[in-house]
Amino acid sequence: MTQDELKQAVGQAAADYVAANTPAGCIIGVGTGSTANCFIDTLAPIKHHFRGAVASSEATRKRLEGHGIPVLDLNDVSEMPIYVDGADEIDAGLNMIKGGGGALTREKIVAAVATTFVCICDASKQVATMGKFPLPVEVIPMAKAHVARALAKLGGQPVERAGFVTDNGNVILDVHGLSITDPKGLEAQINQITGVVTNGLFACRPANLLLLGTPDGVHSVTAA
Ligand code: A5P
Repeated sequence: MTQDELKQAVGQAAADYVAANTPAGCIIGVGTGSTANCFIDTLAPIKHHFRGAVASSEATRKRLEGHGIPVLDLNDVSEMPIYVDGADEIDAGLNMIKGGGGALTREKIVAAVATTFVCICDASKQVATMGKFPLPVEVIPMAKAHVARALAKLGGQPVERAGFVTDNGNVILDVHGLSITDPKGLEAQINQITGVVTNGLFACRPANLLLLGTPDGVHSVTAA
């Protein structure tokens, strides 16, 4: 199976999961990226099961609307049973690095409101220790030099993502060379740096369930 076929398989598995495990008429949270796009495309046939979706990026909002799925403002939603999104890396505790597509802040906000976070990815994203994938950090533009110095003190090599502006008007520093042995601690530590909006570690709020695409089918994985 190609990686695209694995993404389509996990997208379909996630749509089946939504149909079977959420109450009719609910609001669902939808992530960003190529795997989330496969999920969105498989939502169209079940769109009458839920009332609408909250999007974690402008790209996701456009794709949902393209399928005729109503997109709600998160401020108008008090309960969301599920958030479905991909990841750049995921470990055995279902801690993740996210933000390869630059949507980490809105992803983290939507995930914070959801009861259950379902991560969808193929086996290439599973790692023993996170950090090989550069950790994205969203930064207020005037603070980027200050934040870069602070990230270097933590042992990383921050590189500004060239020509990229987030949906929130900020920049991304991708931090190379980290070996993340304490994901929760590092997530909190980086978020304490003045000028950081948030970082792409999802460890304080990890996934509850991983739907993992493999050549012999989609496996349901919970935290070890
Ligand atoms: C978007 O900002 C990211 O968090 C994505 O969820 C993550 O990069 C996974 O993307 P792919 O599904 O395209 O690999």
